[in-house]
Amino acid sequence: MASVRHAEFVLERGDDVWVWDRDGRRYLDATASLWYANVGHGRREIAEAAVAQLERLEAYSTFGDFANEPALELAATLADLAPMPARVFLVSGGGDAIDTAAKLARQYWSQVGEPDRTILISRTAGYHGTHGYGTALAGIPANREGFGPQVDTIQVPHDSIEAMHVEMERADPSRIAAVFVEPVIGAGGVYPPMPGYLEGLSELCRQTGVLLVVDAVICGFGRLGTWFGIERWQADPAMIVFAKGVTSGYLPLGGVIVCERVAEPFWTTPGGPVLRHGPTYSGHPTCCAAALANLALLGRERLVERGRDLEGALLDALAPLREHDAVAEVRGGTGMMAAVELRSDVLDTQAGAIAKVTGAAREAGVIVRPLGRAVAVSPPLTATPEHFQLIAQALDHALDSLSASLSGTR
Ligand SMILES: Cc1ncc(COP(=O)(O)O)c(C=O)c1O
Repeated sequence: MASVRHAEFVLERGDDVWVWDRDGRRYLDATASLWYANVGHGRREIAEAAVAQLERLEAYSTFGDFANEPALELAATLADLAPMPARVFLVSGGGDAIDTAAKLARQYWSQVGEPDRTILISRTAGYHGTHGYGTALAGIPANREGFGPQVDTIQVPHDSIEAMHVEMERADPSRIAAVFVEPVIGAGGVYPPMPGYLEGLSELCRQTGVLLVVDAVICGFGRLGTWFGIERWQADPAMIVFAKGVTSGYLPLGGVIVCERVAEPFWTTPGGPVLRHGPTYSGHPTCCAAALANLALLGRERLVERGRDLEGALLDALAPLREHDAVAEVRGGTGMMAAVELRSDVLDTQAGAIAKVTGAAREAGVIVRPLGRAVAVSPPLTATPEHFQLIAQALDHALDSLSASLSGTR
């Protein structure tokens, strides 16, 4: 906060993959803002759907028996798209949805007579938002530290199914409620899963009864080329958490796809257990109307499939950066997301190296995202291979200026 106080980068307008600052300079949005502008910026259809709903019924609670048409239609649409028979719980964003899934997992076990199942497992480098449970689940230590005592969680190395198995046994599976997993880790550095990892984890969950919660907040709605990302692997989620691409960010919305088994205690018997959990804007009709218009666009323009069709082209465009002195690794190839990680000695000797790269790329007209040791690229799904070349050129230029400043300091 202190560093940007007098240096805000103020954006004013957007159109498809482009955004403009208040001085009229144009930038390629190579991050789809925070991984969410899947259909690109400035889509009139979504604005019109939101305005029409604002004029009809801007907002109304969905507590008790209250409902509204856009919320009902969105829940039905998402349940149809889900990879398992499911109910849908709507909230305002990804962090809300993670907290919902975590509380639902623990309450589910309590309702079915296993109240000791309270522990939640997450993976190193994982990111699950900034709410209470999401903070406790953080696999990036800095995001968890300094907030005092939190709920019981265990962090397991993200790339080893064996480590997951060992940790589950050590903690005792009958005390574990759920494991949270991003199909491709996003904010923690863009790590596609090791071959067989997600299938192995799903099988481990089946054997131990632990609920598999897939965090598809980044990976959903086309980012990995399917509606929820996880369909690419043989896995059987108990819940799928979504947000971001469900509206492409035009209005805030998130939610949880809940398999029938987990929904059942709260759903089947009138007078049965009530899940005492519900944020004010759950099922907000205007946000749901924007989501429906966004889903229609994703489907009509075949943007969901593009996340997979173009994953190779994005990685190919960035791969030559591996030859650069300052680069340790270029990761990607699973969905339209990638990361360029800098070498440890560069990160150690050059304070703020990542910020220098993102700053120089922005100077060259391309917005990329700093992620600790790497810069991330995740353009709107409307981006083309020509845009990928522009991104690669800007990064190449930014890495050159980093190297030039490095040799200046030697
Ligand atoms: C994988 C993942 N889960 C959860 C969240 C939290 O979502 P929100 O920022 O909408 O609360 C994010 C946000 O970036 C995310 O990337």
